Amino acid sequence: MCGITGYIGYREAYPIIINGLKRLEYRGYDSAGVMLYDDGDVHLAKTKGKVSSLEEKVEQEIPNTGFVGVGHTRWATHGVPNDVNSHPHISKSGNLVIVHNGIIENYDSIKQELKSRGYTFHSDTDTEVLVNLIEEMKSQEGVKLGQAVQMALNQVIGAYAIAVFDKTKPNELVVARLGSPIAIGVGKDHEEFFIASDASPFIEFTKDAIYLEDEEMAIVKIGREVRVRKIKDDSLIDPNIQKLQLNLEQIEKGGYDHFMLKEIHEQPRAITDTFRGRLLVNEAIIKLSGLENNMKRFLNAERIIVVACGTSWHAGLVGEYIFEEFARIPVEVEYASEFRYRNPVISDKDIVIAISQSGETADTLAAIKLARSKGAFVFGICNVVGSSIARENDTGAYTHAGPEIGVASTKAFTTQITVLTLMALRLARAKGTMTSEDYRVHLRQLELIPDKVTEVLKTDEHVRNIASIYKDASNCLYLGRGFNFPVALEGALKLKEISYIHAEGYPAAEMKHGPIALIDKDMPVIVIATSKGHYEKVVSNIQEIKSRNGQIIAVVTEGDVTVKEIADHVIEIPETEEALSPLLTTIPLQLLSYYIAVMRGCNVDQPRNLAKSVTVE
Ligand code: AGP
Repeated sequence: MCGITGYIGYREAYPIIINGLKRLEYRGYDSAGVMLYDDGDVHLAKTKGKVSSLEEKVEQEIPNTGFVGVGHTRWATHGVPNDVNSHPHISKSGNLVIVHNGIIENYDSIKQELKSRGYTFHSDTDTEVLVNLIEEMKSQEGVKLGQAVQMALNQVIGAYAIAVFDKTKPNELVVARLGSPIAIGVGKDHEEFFIASDASPFIEFTKDAIYLEDEEMAIVKIGREVRVRKIKDDSLIDPNIQKLQLNLEQIEKGGYDHFMLKEIHEQPRAITDTFRGRLLVNEAIIKLSGLENNMKRFLNAERIIVVACGTSWHAGLVGEYIFEEFARIPVEVEYASEFRYRNPVISDKDIVIAISQSGETADTLAAIKLARSKGAFVFGICNVVGSSIARENDTGAYTHAGPEIGVASTKAFTTQITVLTLMALRLARAKGTMTSEDYRVHLRQLELIPDKVTEVLKTDEHVRNIASIYKDASNCLYLGRGFNFPVALEGALKLKEISYIHAEGYPAAEMKHGPIALIDKDMPVIVIATSKGHYEKVVSNIQEIKSRNGQIIAVVTEGDVTVKEIADHVIEIPETEEALSPLLTTIPLQLLSYYIAVMRGCNVDQPRNLAKSVTVE
């Protein structure tokens, strides 16, 4: 997820754009850039690093004058963070300038076609391809910028929010969206306009905003009403000008009270973006280039070793169950901090999967270096393009969760599991350890997960009510079996790290081996009891707890009747394949920990003693 912004009007554009980028940095901060147009000249400055680095570059390199410009703060998806890959991108002629938030899936085929027409490229980005495709469309007789943008967007597959400027027509900007947000701030008497990923860059200048809908574009021209059109058929749409009610802080959090809650609710989009272009259900194909290019090595691997920390370790544990169930490859999951010091037995027949949201966790980085020094091949699953861990691995696959600001990891967890599931299904297909029917069912069910997560998020108020009952608990137990045992561990981690209540996760069957001694009326027990997950056994565990006056909060498959009779509270989730259920069962546990922490007055986004990335031992 990136932040885009732009201005056209009677004020100096630069101060508005650079301050706007600072407010959008929560959307991405690995590189930034700005284009300013002044008296016939386009001035461009862009750099790896934060917006503060861009300010220095502007001071050193370009005049910061002019009344129109665009800016961008990047969260890399294609092309590592560096100056060249930063936005804005300029077309071959130097006339067109674009900033883009999103992913163009078919950019490579378009790039090859443009190359055959003499276009050259300087960056690795999909965005540079898009601006040159627009140029190619505009090179046709009588085609104006708006039409060229429309023609180009009707050829691309993917998600975008773009702002396009044409040096030859400097009194207008063209914007468009599909899947990524874009807001247009409308100035008094149409004398000025603001463009941004959300309203935070222009909230103090105007409260009048137009939020484009998917597959809509707009031509923004000084002195004239905004013209909104459907990209597909060019039909005009009445612009819906809204009066903004939110304040600046609320806008940055998307209207949510905390980044953590925003990120919990972003999971349908984050999971979709993670399998976008990789999960082709109709063709029954999974495309992961890092895996595809090393398929023989994976098929010959004697063992997969997962190294990670915290929530990423829990995702790896889900991966163990999924890899062994589908692909029949032995998997061991190691805490990176232990692995790096215990002199592990590793050979070149081993594959190490390193999982890290930040890509900067010191223990995980050290474990990777150790594994590689002993001949292992390392596949990384990271959320930050170009991070230290991403650069240390032999290859890998990125989760496209977008920046995760809340210290408690949520969308990173579900997107990591999504990548692991894609890998396991692809390997199962290659090894023939899964029937075609079973394979197709899981592809289809995986594609339905984002909508099912949306359904689970509707339990928000119900979970909040449960949280109000148990917010003063001193201890909690989380129980799960099979694929949901790691989810029990993750739920316990969420609660303890943001509400400071002691919580432990266990395999449900482990109760008899000690933990059941803890059960009494003051001990809430959260149990994951999905209909296909050793259900009868879990019901027995619940009955054992109830007979000792334990309080039961159960996550069940919708339509459940048995557990509903026994438990004190149930939270229903849609049915899915059991191996995919962690993507759903974890959501109520995230919400429960969030609301308990809020009710206890804890600093949810920045809990005490914790950092978002543990870059030291
Ligand atoms: C999880 O909520 C914590 N923030 C923490 O356990 C985290 O998962 C762990 O530090 C690993 O971080 P990484 O994924 O960035 O490597």
